[in-house]
Amino acid sequence: MNRLIIVSNRTPGKDPAAGGLAVALRKTLADRNGFWFGWSGKLTEKPSPDAMFENIDGLSVGRIDLTRDDHHAYYAGFSNSILWPSFHLRLDLATIEAPWYEGYRRVNAQFAKALLPHLQPDDVIWVHDYHLIPLATELRALGARNRIGFYLHIPFPTTDALYAIPHHNELMRDLARYDIVGLQANRDVIAFTDFADNQSPSSLADGPLEAVDFSRTEVAAFPIGSDPDAFARLATSPAANKMIKRMQRFLDDQRLLIGVDRLDYSKGLPQRVEAYEKLLANNAHLRRLVHLLQVAPPSRDTIKEYQETSDALDAMCGRVMGRFAEPDWAPLTYVKRAYGQPSLAGLFRLARVGLVTPLRDGMNLVAHEYVAAQNPDNPGVLVLSRFAGAAEIFPEALLVNPFDTDETAEALRLALEMGLDERKQRWQALMDAARHYSIDNWAQNFLARLNPAGAQGGGGPDRDFLYLASVA
Ligand code: G6P
Repeated sequence: MNRLIIVSNRTPGKDPAAGGLAVALRKTLADRNGFWFGWSGKLTEKPSPDAMFENIDGLSVGRIDLTRDDHHAYYAGFSNSILWPSFHLRLDLATIEAPWYEGYRRVNAQFAKALLPHLQPDDVIWVHDYHLIPLATELRALGARNRIGFYLHIPFPTTDALYAIPHHNELMRDLARYDIVGLQANRDVIAFTDFADNQSPSSLADGPLEAVDFSRTEVAAFPIGSDPDAFARLATSPAANKMIKRMQRFLDDQRLLIGVDRLDYSKGLPQRVEAYEKLLANNAHLRRLVHLLQVAPPSRDTIKEYQETSDALDAMCGRVMGRFAEPDWAPLTYVKRAYGQPSLAGLFRLARVGLVTPLRDGMNLVAHEYVAAQNPDNPGVLVLSRFAGAAEIFPEALLVNPFDTDETAEALRLALEMGLDERKQRWQALMDAARHYSIDNWAQNFLARLNPAGAQGGGGPDRDFLYLASVA
């Protein structure tokens, strides 16, 4: 079987609370004798041309250091102040600074140069996320002829938002250098196809441009998932039970609503708290009977727009506390800290309502994990944004428009009052979907497409799993 090389900005570390992606790909990498490649997390004064390899619990990981200036331009700058807001349709929050693009390309070139000496001709390379769009171009410029796939973990922008990104045409040309581009959801494939089919590229800076040729690139949606059965086991583990007991003592007979998100403006957190405020305002009988727990670990906090989101959420939570709290009752708890998977699994299991209401999201794996953690005999209800990729595979959730806080407030009321039969029925359908779109199936299907000759079992990808787009 061909070796598999995974490339991403962040690499798995020794932290046992590693993400689902690292856990799922660890086994695939071990089977294929491959390695993971990415940034070391270290900032240096001078660029380090060579990768350092380390064995982390049986997984081979190659890493490079970046200079402080390059990292700033590549990560906080072009990736997270231009690509992230634009891909999430928040052009109002984008900051455009010309030198960032050069830094972004420089880092991608550095990745390619450091990776090349470790490649064998029949290695299959799988590149992850928006930080590394130009990597195939850079590798091919150095002579790599391997099969290279790209997976985007965030939504693909509409054509207008894409046109607002400086150098968008070069970035699309970079994507056309991959053999396959995997996206999260059908809506992303439609947006990609719209650009590919209706290119009218011309700009003041560049004049008329040649249309990008996508004829050698396959574009398809591969909805990512979790490991729902493992997460379900975690939710009944001793560590989860400890958290459940602790919370039960605190909650008494109040019903718990829970949200767990990185503190990011795409997650719609102020809107969510406003919807909760409306729930309490419109339904006085629910006061003292419900409690919202919002867990929001800080993220990318050197970026101004993230600090402002954090301030907006502080203000919103303060407003709801001031309006509804009593000396012996608090309507909500807001925790700006990360918790381990076992504690979260316990909290999800206890919560009657799981709130996943991003304004726009690639997939959103919290939705998968909330579903997986439920007690099948007494499951909670998932309230889900229709703008999360997860909405395409979880139609049995209560789908809401997160911008419409009246609608979300009403969905919260329905969720809190939903009878056991309906909760069970909806949950069963959601759990079936979470199992069908598991992370193992996701990885297998993407790799079967990227490397048809090496597909395990030789059966090729599960057609039912894919939304295929023919981009001519
Ligand atoms: C999203 C992105 C990932 C990223 C993660 C955490 O899920 O798709 O690529 O790693 O956010 O963000 P950070 O900037 O801390 O890596």
